[in-house]
Amino acid sequence: MSQTSDQIPYEALAERFGTPLYVYNADELTRAHERYRQAFAGLDPLICYAVKANSNLSILRHFAQLGCGFDIVSGGELARVIAAGGDPAKTVFSGVGKSRDEIRDALEAGIKCFNIESLPEIDRIEAIAAISGHIAPVSLRINPNINAQTHPYISTGLRDNKFGIAIDQAEEAYRYAASRPHLRVVGIDCHIGSQLLDLSPLEEACARILELADRLEAAGIRLEHIDLGGGIGIVYDENSEREPDLTAYAQTVSRLLSSRSLKLLLEPGRSLCGNAGVLLTRVEYHKRHHGKNFLIVDAAMNDLMRPALYQAYHRIETLTRRGQPEITADIVGPVCESSDFFAKERTIAATEGDLLLIHSAGAYASSMASNYNTRPRAAEVLIENGQARLIRHRENIKAMLAAELPCL
Ligand code: LLP
Repeated sequence: MSQTSDQIPYEALAERFGTPLYVYNADELTRAHERYRQAFAGLDPLICYAVKANSNLSILRHFAQLGCGFDIVSGGELARVIAAGGDPAKTVFSGVGKSRDEIRDALEAGIKCFNIESLPEIDRIEAIAAISGHIAPVSLRINPNINAQTHPYISTGLRDNKFGIAIDQAEEAYRYAASRPHLRVVGIDCHIGSQLLDLSPLEEACARILELADRLEAAGIRLEHIDLGGGIGIVYDENSEREPDLTAYAQTVSRLLSSRSLKLLLEPGRSLCGNAGVLLTRVEYHKRHHGKNFLIVDAAMNDLMRPALYQAYHRIETLTRRGQPEITADIVGPVCESSDFFAKERTIAATEGDLLLIHSAGAYASSMASNYNTRPRAAEVLIENGQARLIRHRENIKAMLAAELPCL
């Protein structure tokens, strides 16, 4: 779970930087990365942090300094990696819809490889590499048709999902890619979904992908690496969830890889930063109607949309301890949508003016924020060596309006 209020002076941070406010803990980022390093120690994997989980430049810089590579899904994310001092040569480019410009820029930057997701993408990368005089390093993302047993919106490895090349078309696709003069086939990858608490689907995917790698090798296509995609799920709710056993997963992967000389790549996002961040928000109103309590807070679905989009659970703690009685309340934001909630029917001791801590908000939170209802995006702070550093200014309404062309 996220750091507790005893360790970090959240009240003082809320006073100093205002709310809503994201607060991240650099030590927790380092610890999460270290857990992967230790679990996979024997394999020395390249850990490509999934930028989409939290793309703040200071967070990317932190992971770059720990030696991470990156998993990107857009030209914008590539620009972030470069701006943060990350190494394009350790960066893999995933995503089903890479544009021509994005491919050109990634080739120029010298990325480690393109994780190709379709047959037309093979042709597009070949054509752009030919024009620009590059040999593009490529991996094919295989859709192994495995149920990741997670929320359907973040499940990606089933035949019906838009992701990857179907496993039964894979050998043909590899033969085709290998025959293209401006492509160099270097790897194989898959990513079956996110927030996986049961790791057996991941292990099954690894086994299936390796069987395919063996068949490819027999057909004369030698791969340099296998990329197993995103990382493990995290605990949002201590009462109902248990952290998956990363070491057991690493041991299974290690056993499966043992007779093969393939470098391992991993693309964890959530498990590196999810529990390293919280969202601080203040209760604006305590509204009671028809026997129901609503705590209306100053953060909203535009700041953290996981509950609205996936009915996701986030633990919420009251920081102001004034001995209020416990109530059962819906904790909601000011946005004009009934889906703008952080919790329904939650037991909590809080009322107007109190500061609340929304836990596990380090991943897929600020990176998914929007300006809906013309709300400026929240400020972000990183705690490093005991010091709080502002790593993103609170957005300013004047600047938001200025981005639009004059209407007169
Ligand atoms: N690699 C690829 C190709 C991905 O699509 C993803 C996540 C990852 C790696 C990182 O997966 P992780 O280690 O974080 O599980 N917004 C959703 C999660 C979307 C995940 C999308 N892909 C949420 O808030 O739960």
